Formats: sequence, C-alpha cells, structure tokens
Amino acid sequence: MAVVQDQYGRQFKTLRVSLLNHCNLGCVYCVAGDEEVKAAGAAGKERLLTVPALLEIIGRLHGQLQLETIRLTGGEPLLYPGLVELIRGIRALGIPAIKLTTNGFLLDRLAAPMKEAGMTSVNVSLDAVDEDVFYHMSRRHSAERVIRGIDAAKDAGLDVKINTVVMRGINDGQILPLLDLAFSRHCRIRFLEVMAMGHLHDQAEKYLFTRAEILSVISTHHQCKPLDRMVSATATYWQTEEGHQFGVIANETEPFCRDCDRLRLDSSGQIYGCLSSNHPIPLGRDEDETIWTEKLQQALLQKQALRFTGSDLSMLHIGG
Ligand code: 5AD
Repeated sequence: MAVVQDQYGRQFKTLRVSLLNHCNLGCVYCVAGDEEVKAAGAAGKERLLTVPALLEIIGRLHGQLQLETIRLTGGEPLLYPGLVELIRGIRALGIPAIKLTTNGFLLDRLAAPMKEAGMTSVNVSLDAVDEDVFYHMSRRHSAERVIRGIDAAKDAGLDVKINTVVMRGINDGQILPLLDLAFSRHCRIRFLEVMAMGHLHDQAEKYLFTRAEILSVISTHHQCKPLDRMVSATATYWQTEEGHQFGVIANETEPFCRDCDRLRLDSSGQIYGCLSSNHPIPLGRDEDETIWTEKLQQALLQKQALRFTGSDLSMLHIGG
C-alpha cells in the first residue's frame, strides 16, 4: 500500500472528525456576535453523516493510514445523536485511542455511556471559573455546569484534560483560578494562545496573550520546570514543585507544524490536511483506493512547513 508521507517525513496518524458544525455555546473566539444568531438558527438543520457512513469513511482511512488516534469534535460533538453507537463502531475498527473535545455541557449525562462504549479520554473547554467572565467568553451560563461535567467524566474513569483559550483583556485574569481548579481535581490543564481562525483571522493579535505572558503569570505563584515535548504534541508541559502538570499550546509564538500528524474530516465528509487550509478536499464513497491516496497526498501538501497562518474558517466548521 502506498505510504502517504511528505518531505519532512510527516504522515497522518491522528484523525479529527467534526461531527456537526453547530454548538450550544457561542464563544467569542469562535463566532462573531452577528453570526451567533444565525448559528443558533441553523442548529438541527444541517444534514449529518449517519453513523454507518462515518464508520465507512473512518474505516477506509484507517485501512490506508493505520491511524493511532481518533478525536471526535465539532461544533459540539455531544450534540451528535448517534455518538455512543459511533464510539462503539470506532472501537470495533481497532483504532487504539478514541478521544473527544467538548464544551462539557452535556457531559454529566454522556460521560459514563461514552466510557462504556470505548472512549479513552476527553478534553473539556473551560475558559473561566468566574461566572461573569464565563458568560462573557461563551455567551451562556454556566461554568458550574461544565465543572459538573468534568467531575462526571473523572468519575466515569475517563482521562480528562481542560483546555483554556486565553484572551487578553477578557479572561487573562482567570489563569490562576483555573490552575487551582485543575490541580485540585488532578486534571491536566492546557492554556491555548488564541488562533487566527474565523472572524479573528485578521485581528487575533489584538487578543493574543502569549505563552511567555501565561508563564509569567503562573510563575508569580508557582515554581515550575519544563518537561520534554512529546513528538507531534500540540502542548508543551511544565511541572510545579508540588508535582502538578500544566501545558501551553502556543500556536502563534511556538508553532508545532514540523511534526504535525493530524488529518481533519469535516461534517460533510471532506478532508483538510491543515487547520490553516480552507480548501476542503471531498472524498467520494465510490472512488477507489488509488484516488483516496492521491487526495490524502494532496491534503498532506496543505500542511504548513513552519508557521501557523490561520484561516477564515472558524473551528466551528473545520473542527477544534
Ligand atoms: N483560538 C484558540 N483556540 C480555539 N478553540 C476554538 N477556536 C479557537 C481559536 N480561535 C479551542 C476550543 C477547544 C480547542 C480544540 O480549540 O476552545 O478547546
């Protein structure tokens, strides 16, 4: 079978599947104020790929790429009606790690059935502990509900990580309270530099709170040492003197394109080789393996060599 690889030796080993492109939150880095109303109106109107259709695509991609990880995302993946059945089907395909990124709103109900179906870990987005700041970031209530979801996921035996997008002047004061929350629950937390996606494509700089600034805030309360970065990892981790770990995903100031192994599938069955590409490549179910290999090679060429450039597509569409 033809190996799909580029000049840097990059291959696709992680598949991120966006199950749908709507969400029950309206986070300010994802949707602009005027889009929010439209996005809410579109909820439920999108034609979703069925579980058998998704399993067929994922199974074929796994056959060609020997995937190591699959991450379900969205929009908000917990809104996908056949989620538990889909997880069970992916497990049956033999992909070793099944993960998911969620806003946590529906997690208290779904954590246990997802774990039972074969899910291994979840990343939960939580951008503030303070309820006013949480509302400002997500246009919904409440942080408490997300924290309940995090606890349910831990109780169900899932590996849980917290993701926090840090935006200058909005939630940069939440770094230390979120760190305390994560440490008290023995969860790893990762702080993300805001990325130039969607409506922020031309103005992310305005909100960028850099990795150096994040570390400087944390170092006022904790002594920490850096840990070695894992190959293809998005985050670099630090460990505090008490043994707690936290990470930073510094797409802007410390890009990690060089060993990126991610392939993205959107909710209409099109692939992207890079978060910075807004050129979807449609996969035809009736096309044979040679054509899919060519398309995968084309997707690999979309990867940036050195730097993350962003795109006009919001993560709502391309998947976080
Ligand atoms: N910049 C940084 N992070 C973002 N996410 C969504 N959009 C952006 C953006 N523009 C985050 C989500 C989720 C993760 C996968 O990506 O909050 O935690």
